[in-house]
Amino acid sequence: MAVILGIESSCDETAAALIGSDRTIFAHRLAGQEAHHAPYGGVVPEIAARAHSETLSPLIEAALAEAGMALGDVDAIAATAGPGLIGGVMVGLVMAKALALAAEKPLIAVNHLEGHALSPRLIDPHLDFPYLLLLVSGGHCQLLRVEGVGAYRRLATTIDDAAGEAFDKTAKLLGLGFPGGPAVERAAASGHPCAVPLPRPLAGSKEPHFSFAGLKSAVARAVASGEHRAEDIAASFQQAVVDCLTDRTRRALRQAGGARALVVAGGVAANGAVRAALEEVAKEYAMRFVAPPLWLCTDNAAMIAWAGAERFAAGWSDPLDTPARARWPLDPLAEKVRGAGVKA
Ligand code: KG4
Ligand code: ZN
Repeated sequence: MAVILGIESSCDETAAALIGSDRTIFAHRLAGQEAHHAPYGGVVPEIAARAHSETLSPLIEAALAEAGMALGDVDAIAATAGPGLIGGVMVGLVMAKALALAAEKPLIAVNHLEGHALSPRLIDPHLDFPYLLLLVSGGHCQLLRVEGVGAYRRLATTIDDAAGEAFDKTAKLLGLGFPGGPAVERAAASGHPCAVPLPRPLAGSKEPHFSFAGLKSAVARAVASGEHRAEDIAASFQQAVVDCLTDRTRRALRQAGGARALVVAGGVAANGAVRAALEEVAKEYAMRFVAPPLWLCTDNAAMIAWAGAERFAAGWSDPLDTPARARWPLDPLAEKVRGAGVKA
């Protein structure tokens, strides 16, 4: 069994984990930065990078102590090398390089999206390739055919905002605070999902792409009208997102044959309504449905260590001059889609 140290620092979670190639979770540690960013209503990149640099070293030591290991017991060091906020990515990647150099261990540069994409395999040894992945996070909204480790075919992406971004903006408009996703979900629980008429952008369109900018504007108008309860807006918004995600996923399932399972990952996969609706879609197509536990949906280092373990098992490692990347598409062959602000 190989033991991989994983490091994550691409957004506002500093994280370190020790994972075995047999799926043993020896330690996983997380230090959120919510208190740092809450006054600004969103993640401030410079503040995030500084917080990572203060927190990461003690967090790695705590993870090693929890696992009862020293750096010498680790077989490889994996870190997120992008995409993400570049200052934070650099903090984690430089730390990984320093440890790799000092301990003479291989470095594994992990694409953060690959971390999300492979995370369900950490908890489900029976999840085999290929599978259809709906990757829904704060920065991304994509449908990918996961064909193997390092082999991802992007079927669709968002032409404007990511789904998590839409949750965060809706929370801001409703004054529900930051981070927005869980707050909107809580408010939605006591609202009516049909109370406020909202659009389902791109629903029914031929390509399975996503769009959330128009939905966000419609939420802003609904808030400004003063005619609706915040709970009703939250519930109607959440329902609109669920309808968009399921419609687009059905379209992708019709186009990409041969998938063994429908998998959802990324922060928005922590949403109960999203999970339940996708489980229904999987049933319609007589497919297995796999969603990681909530702690593995939002950003963490266990998924980075696991992606590192999968790459290590394939015999791959990376040179110490591997750059940190703000943008890094999982599928380099994917065509650019029209629409402003498409994220990596
Ligand atoms: O994967 P993640 O932790 O970070 C990125 O890589 O982006 O995803 C964070 C996103 C945020 O936009 C957050 O609001 C959203 O996931 N999120 C949720 C929920 N929990 C987190 N969205 C809806 N419902 C939730 N329960
Ligand atoms: Zn993420």
